[in-house]
Formats: sequence, C-alpha cells, structure tokens
Amino acid sequence: MDGNLLAAIRNAGQEQVLRFYGELSAESQQEFEAQLAQVNWQELPRLAAEYVVKRPETVIPADLAPAEFFPLEPADSAMSELYQRADAKGVELLRAGKVCCLTVAGGQGTRLGFDGPKGTYPIGPATNRTLFGYFAESIARAQEKYGKPILWFLMTSPINREATENFFRAQNFFGLAPEQVFFFTQGTMPAFGTDGKLLLSAKNSLSLSPDGHGGTLLALRRSGALEMMAANGVEYISYFQVDNPLVPVVSPRFIGLHALENSEMSALMLSKTNSKEKLGNFCVSGGKVQIIEYSDLPDELAEKRNPDGSLAFVAGSPAIHVISRQFVEKLTSGGTLMLPWHRADKKIPALDADGNIVTPAEPNGVKLESFIFDALPLAEKVMILEGGRSEVFAPTKNATGVDSAESCRIMISERNARRLSAAGVNIPRNADGSVNAVIELSPRLVFDDADAVELVKATGLRAVLPGETVVL
Ligand code: UD1
Repeated sequence: MDGNLLAAIRNAGQEQVLRFYGELSAESQQEFEAQLAQVNWQELPRLAAEYVVKRPETVIPADLAPAEFFPLEPADSAMSELYQRADAKGVELLRAGKVCCLTVAGGQGTRLGFDGPKGTYPIGPATNRTLFGYFAESIARAQEKYGKPILWFLMTSPINREATENFFRAQNFFGLAPEQVFFFTQGTMPAFGTDGKLLLSAKNSLSLSPDGHGGTLLALRRSGALEMMAANGVEYISYFQVDNPLVPVVSPRFIGLHALENSEMSALMLSKTNSKEKLGNFCVSGGKVQIIEYSDLPDELAEKRNPDGSLAFVAGSPAIHVISRQFVEKLTSGGTLMLPWHRADKKIPALDADGNIVTPAEPNGVKLESFIFDALPLAEKVMILEGGRSEVFAPTKNATGVDSAESCRIMISERNARRLSAAGVNIPRNADGSVNAVIELSPRLVFDDADAVELVKATGLRAVLPGETVVL
C-alpha cells in the first residue's frame, strides 16, 4: 500500500479499515486503495470528534429573526411595477438562453419505500407519468415557449447514476435532445460508527453514502458542468428537488427578480400551514439569511406569533432556488467548499470484527451530509419571493399520509382543475370544495395558465363531469 496513504490513515486513527486488507486479492487491494485515496484523512479526526463522538448542538443565534421576503401579491404600486419589470426581465433572460435547470436527484428516497431512482417514480394522477417525466416535459414546453434550448443538469449519486441514465435512454429523453441533458455524480462521505470509527460495507470498501445536496456545488465544478454552463452562455441556475412535480422548472418572475435585485442566491418561500410543518425556516441573523430545519427550530420560536396571531417564523422553504453561476464559480474556485456538516443517525449495514455483514435493527452509525441552503449566508445578496403553495409545491416524500404520493396526486389534479376553471371549464366540486374528478394535463402542453387557455380552445372542453378522469 502507498506509504503516504497508510500514514494518513494511521494519523487519522482509522487503521481498522485495513483489518481485512491482507486477505484481499491484488486487484481488490488496488480498488480499495483508489477508494481510500479519495477520503480527506486530515479532516476526519475533527469530523469524528465534533459531529460523531460528540453530538453537535444546533446553536440558535440570540438575534435570530424571521427573514424578509417579497410577498406573492405586490404590497403597493411600486412593488407591482417591480414585479412587472421582473416578469419581463425573466422572459428576456429565458429568450436569451441564459437560464438552465438543475435537479438534485441523488437522494435514496428511502422514506417512499421505492426501489429505484426517485425520479422514476410514477406520480401522474391518471397515468404513469414519472417525476422525471414531469420535469422533462415542462422543460420541453418552456423552451418551445421561450425559443431557446434549456440545458438540464441532473445530479445523481454513485448509487443511482446508471439506473437514472438508463431510464432516460429508455424514455428517449422524453423528447429532449440527449445533448441538453447533463448527468453528473455527487460526492460521497464515509459513514462512521458511533465511536467515530469508519464502517466497512465489504472487506474492500468503506461504507459510503451521498454527501448531501450541499455536494452539488463542488460536483458542478468537478464534473465540468460549470464550464458547460459558461460555454453555453448560462448565467442563472433554476434549482429544484426531484420530489416536487408541481415545481415551475423555470419561473420568469423569480428569475427576473433575482437578476434585478442582484441576488447571488434566491429562494422561493411558502407561508407555513402550521408551526410544525416539516419545512426549513427562512431566518436572518447578523444580516445574513439562513435556513433552519424544522427539526432544529426551538418550539418557542416555531410557536412565536405576530400581534395579529400569525406565525412570526412563517416562511418555509420548498427548496426552489435561483443561483447565479458566478456565485457557484466563486464559492468553489479553490476546488474546495466548506459547508457545515449535518449529522443523521442511521441503521448502516456494516462488517463486524469477523468480516460478516450485520444489518442492525437500531441506528448504529452516523452519516454526515451538507445542505445547499447553507450557501445562503455566504451570498452577498439573497432574494426571497413568496410562491403560491398550491401552484408550486406538492412534495412526494412518504408512502402514505402527509407529503405522500397520494396527496401529491390530489394536488396535481387540483392545480389542473384550477387552470381549466380559469380557462372557463366547469369543474365538479365536492361539498368541501375539493375537485370531484381526476385531471391530468400534459406538462408538454400546459406549462402555465396561458397554455391551459390554448388547450381548452383547441379541445373545445366545456365541462368535466363528476367523478370523471380527464387526461389531456
Ligand atoms: C428538504 C429540505 C427542507 C425543505 C423540504 C421541501 C433538506 C435537509 N431539507 O427536506 O428544508 O423544506 O425539502 O420539500 O434538504 N439529495 C441529493 N443528494 C443527497 C441528499 C439529497 O441529491 O445526498 C436530493 C434528494 O434527491 C431530494 C433533495 O435533495 O431531491 C431533498 O432531499 P431530502 O432528504 O428528501 O430532503 P427533505 O428532508 O425532504
């Protein structure tokens, strides 16, 4: 084994990873060495001490306050005028081909209980249209509308890269040009046992897992994606998660306001439905915007009320951002990026001292992830814009209940119903106001309300019947 690598592993106090090294074939040893050479051994002792052996405490700054945002409806005529300029600016940037899409799809979707890349999950309320299908078809319609191809960057993990690419090929890239879809792979982090020692998944492999969506920024640089963006004149990145089929893949007002406000990283926000809603919270401390996860916001802050009874910390994050390419260039210019790590206690199958794989019943280890929203405090300027919840957000996180595939399908149907209704179609509703029909509109045809009007004109649709399933 390479002497420097061996010394680095020893200095990090992690020799146990080499327990079975002597038993391996020469080829296997080489593979393992290549993997071990990727680990930042110098940083490991600090990570083990600060995040694993000791449970890091979330420090809530004393001056923490709710972040300010642009409201959904403009508050006065000046704001109304600004929004109009933003709409025009956004369209101008899209027409000039300065905007790309970026989807983070490296997560494992364990909560959904679906075996496969989460984007391949069928989410259409009436058809098997997948999450990837929603984004791809929306991009296809948006680029048709704005007259310039929209590059789409998809971040996968080493675990789902191949399956994701195969899926796109099998679907003929949903009609997009294969050259406009750029797959890249995020980094990994080794998993720790609770004693701070790295775990092995095999005699010749550390237990590795995706390094969190904070890994996107460095992965954009390492994969050449940033260069590709620059070469194609892309200045703005429209960022969204793989779990939200309602996301506007590009939003002219959001992009335009980001540009007009000279923001480096912008965020859509939603008014939380309740104090405990599982969304990150937009806060500000020392003049810097930051997101504090729902699990970390102390109860007294989550429950804090304004004089009118509304929630003080009302701004929740649907994880939809516009990020300036230049900002990512700046953050990653040295080839490294130090975002804070977040600890997750997990059940991690690992080798025991005899080399047998053990699948634990209780959490036995720690995975560390970084989060992209931790880049917000690093930005010179952050812009936050309120989004219409039922228009932009239908997360698919769980198998059943809240934020499930079931609730997501209903929300898709509801948005389609609203669009058809606004275009003059009669929609059957139940006593509680919910839609009494299942409605799926092709995102290839309907990107926005204006498209719905065209579709209604073209089809002559006048009414949806109670209990009907409509697929257009
Ligand atoms: C996330 C946000 C939360 C936000 C909510 C909105 C975090 C920690 N929290 O919650 O603030 O309010 O969404 O729905 O992100 N991913 C990768 N690589 C990874 C890990 C994740 O690409 O290593 C991707 C996933 O594929 C997914 C997204 O990041 O698209 C979010 O990950 P997930 O773990 O599902 O976040 P949530 O806890 O649901």
